[in-house]
Amino acid sequence: MSQSETSIDQHALAEVLEGLRQPQKTISPKYFYDARGSDLFEQITRLDAYYPTRTEMGILRNSGPEIGKVIGPDAIIVEFGSGNSEKIHLLLDVLDRPRAYVPIDISAEHMEAAAAGIDADYPSLTVIPVAGDYTKPMHLPGHSALDGARLTGFFPGSTIGNFPPEEAEAFLVTARDILDGGDLLIGADLQKDPAVLNLAYNDPEGVTAAFNLNMLPHLNQLIGTDFDAGAFEHHAFYNEVLGRIEMHLVSQAAQTVHIGGSAVSFAADETIHTESSHKYTLEGFAALAARAGWRTAQTWCDAKPWFSLHLLTPA
Ligand code: SAH
Ligand code: AVI
Repeated sequence: MSQSETSIDQHALAEVLEGLRQPQKTISPKYFYDARGSDLFEQITRLDAYYPTRTEMGILRNSGPEIGKVIGPDAIIVEFGSGNSEKIHLLLDVLDRPRAYVPIDISAEHMEAAAAGIDADYPSLTVIPVAGDYTKPMHLPGHSALDGARLTGFFPGSTIGNFPPEEAEAFLVTARDILDGGDLLIGADLQKDPAVLNLAYNDPEGVTAAFNLNMLPHLNQLIGTDFDAGAFEHHAFYNEVLGRIEMHLVSQAAQTVHIGGSAVSFAADETIHTESSHKYTLEGFAALAARAGWRTAQTWCDAKPWFSLHLLTPA
């Protein structure tokens, strides 16, 4: 076997190929996140058009003291999809003697740099970074700081919305198992004027387009495909029937892409569905949580309300 074959992620290759063989070609949004994808996402969070990050951080600032009290002292926070760990600062600052922080993220390099920053900023906190895919069965690392301790999950950003509803439910079941009786503080973006939603995923600066297209060079590097990113275009729109933003990559011409030993053909204007970003109602989100065995103990929103934060407790 050649060096390039051995370094290819065979599991990812099989998963991507399966998605490209569906009538509507699909690739999981988790493949956005190499180092450049994480950097582009960070740029998105600072765009005027992209309201979710600043709105959720506003809720964390305004309701932080109350949230800190509900979580209680000596917390161990497990953050799913921690990214640049920006939001955890707001949470750690309102907690009474937090003991440990466990960031979990698939974008290892980016997450580890962020975890080192938290380690430096909070000397009394034990930081235990976990590089991995939270959609796969996982165990937290054996560490004395976690032995017999009560865990609290943190899943901000409405990243839950990037799962189809049945996978969102499955994720919430897995999270309940991982947290083993602990609560989960989770962000969920809310339904609103479609014009606001469409702008948030079609920013005039073109950063979201670059983020969407970056999936292709990432896959070329990860699984050896030969995608030509210049032959695809970004397309995002709010699907009002399904209550979700859909992001697609549109093939600009008839073309063939090679993946492993297989060839995948694209017609002109055929799309790859790369991401859905579900927008919830408060009732709809509570019902989703309930189906996964969680009770909504408390909900905090901004004044509009555009975004929601929920404290879920095992039912
Ligand atoms: N929590 C941050 C970042 C959200 S972006 C915020 O609220 O702004 C989504 C993050 O989840 C990225 O850092 C990405 O690398 C990570 N991610 C996406 N899919 C993942 C998966 N399957 N397993 C682990 N991390 C994942
Ligand atoms: C990470 N996730 C919640 C973002 C979202 O809004 O769905 C990813 C993103 N896609 C385009 N812009 C941001």
